[in-house]
Amino acid sequence: MLRTHNCGELTIKDCGKRVTLCGWLQRSRDLGSMTFIDLRDRYGITQLVFNTDTNKDIYNQAKSLSREYVLQVEGEVKERSNKNKNLSTGDIEIIVDKINVLNTAQIPPFTIEDNTDGGDELRMKYRYLDLRRACVRKNLELRHRLSILIRNYLNNKDFLEIETPFLIRSTPEGARDFVVPSRMNPNEFYALPQSPQQYKQLLMVAGFDRYFQIVRCFRDEDLRADRQPEFTQIDCEMSFVEQEDVLNTFEGLIKYLFKEEKHLEFPKFNRMTWQDAMKYYGSDKPDLRFDMKFVEIDDVAKGKGFKVFDDAEIVVGICVQGCASYTRKQLDELTEFVKKPQVGANGLVYIKYNEDKTFKSSVDKFFSQDDLKVIAEKFDAKPGDLMLIMAGKKMKTRISLCSLRLEMGSRLNLRNPFNYAITWVVDFPLLEWNEEDQRYYAMHHPFTAPKPEDYPILFTKPGEVRANAYDLVINGTEVGGGSIRIHDKKVQADMFKALGFTPEKAQEQFGFLMNAFTYGAPPHGGLAFGFDRLCAIFAGADTIRDFIAFPKNNSGRDLMADAPSMISQQQLDELCLDLKKKD
Ligand code: AMO
Repeated sequence: MLRTHNCGELTIKDCGKRVTLCGWLQRSRDLGSMTFIDLRDRYGITQLVFNTDTNKDIYNQAKSLSREYVLQVEGEVKERSNKNKNLSTGDIEIIVDKINVLNTAQIPPFTIEDNTDGGDELRMKYRYLDLRRACVRKNLELRHRLSILIRNYLNNKDFLEIETPFLIRSTPEGARDFVVPSRMNPNEFYALPQSPQQYKQLLMVAGFDRYFQIVRCFRDEDLRADRQPEFTQIDCEMSFVEQEDVLNTFEGLIKYLFKEEKHLEFPKFNRMTWQDAMKYYGSDKPDLRFDMKFVEIDDVAKGKGFKVFDDAEIVVGICVQGCASYTRKQLDELTEFVKKPQVGANGLVYIKYNEDKTFKSSVDKFFSQDDLKVIAEKFDAKPGDLMLIMAGKKMKTRISLCSLRLEMGSRLNLRNPFNYAITWVVDFPLLEWNEEDQRYYAMHHPFTAPKPEDYPILFTKPGEVRANAYDLVINGTEVGGGSIRIHDKKVQADMFKALGFTPEKAQEQFGFLMNAFTYGAPPHGGLAFGFDRLCAIFAGADTIRDFIAFPKNNSGRDLMADAPSMISQQQLDELCLDLKKKD
């Protein structure tokens, strides 16, 4: 070993010891006769001291060193006169008498500090320097600890970790695939897995009973703060189970992680049907850290001559406590907010319930004080509250109101990332109508089982069939999802029929799975958690990027390696690929 200790472990108990440390030069301060250097490694920072009076040579040598040089130093541990309570090593310093420069370094393009001066792009380009910053490193340490805990928990419950292939067959349905051309099979392509869904089901057919994998998945979709083109799932599957068993097993896992990592304990997780989630929160991933439940007021809002309400499929709003004092400017801001294309509403109606029990609204022309009182009662509003109301097409209006609800939650500081509100959303619809393609798609995936009691209406009222499918939602983020699978040949064939597949097409796309199911598939189900999202939630962060060592930017580029990139003509020829000219 080139060192006796690391930079985070020496304390007052070590005073008098002779030690050797290695690390990077974080910062150096020259105070005339003394130079101080902060030496950094993964474990922490230790202060080094160089005194011109006691050792002039070494003092001069120290002065010549620059930021991010890699050093090996020898010296004696001394108690500090000026202690730093923020550092684990803040009680001591090292009086150095020997420096060995292990490597020099260029001046980094941004400061390696928690509060860095580097912008996003620059930090991504020099990600290996960004990763030297303690705040980023801590995220990956958290990720590591969680992965160990997950393996522990699942191993104790008899789950086997089994790897599944990365080069697989491209299947339609779901997001876009990343594809890989095959040199040995000209004009044919593999796809990178969007998830190991079909393989884990095959492992159930194979009798493995309980499988898990912490596994990379690839999806060619538009990127956001909580979406990366390659991300990691905690992918799980179990045989001989019903929905209740899956929910209990993985509720146990999440509780175990919170307990071990954050010393937090939770009662049984809330459960909400998809219908209720949409009706009361306008989202299948409701943020339950705050209330502001939707209230539908069609019966009291319609018939007063206000066309926007009268012509609407739904009139629905939220009651924001204590905000009746909002100024004209603040209300205009909210109206601007809901009209943004991302929110997509035409407008916003407000009713202020003033402290003096009078009402002031943007629709005073149509609604008397008595009418407004009736509406306020529907909202269970109190003097001082502000009601915000939208009207229009049902789904669209609910989704817009959801954005407004979240905005109000943020404005009122009701979305503390460390206040965890967890819920299962259950009973998802089996199918989802796609206007563009004029056909149904599987809401989860085509192997998800309908609720047995809804199966008879699969062809008569396909849109109303509920699935044995569930998501886990924490603080408004979909952390995981899964379902009970179809293991019956007839049900699977009917499902493909409902999706508009001919038997031949279904056989062509999913034949290997369907054939496997003819050899005795056990009843099975499972789920997958988004591991990156789970890490971000544990750290109270919005973006998953900082929990991935080498992430892509929002255009799917690796700025450091500059990927994706062109390939040579020779590679293209070998792969029988002809490039189209870019416009
Ligand atoms: P699903 O598509 O819901 O289910 O994915 C499971 C979980 O993976 C996370 N996730 C993502 N995280 C980061 N970036 C992305 N682009 C991304 N896409 C999804 C989410 C999500 O809840 N095979 C099924 C699971 C099953 O049925 O067992 C599946 O993949 O947190």
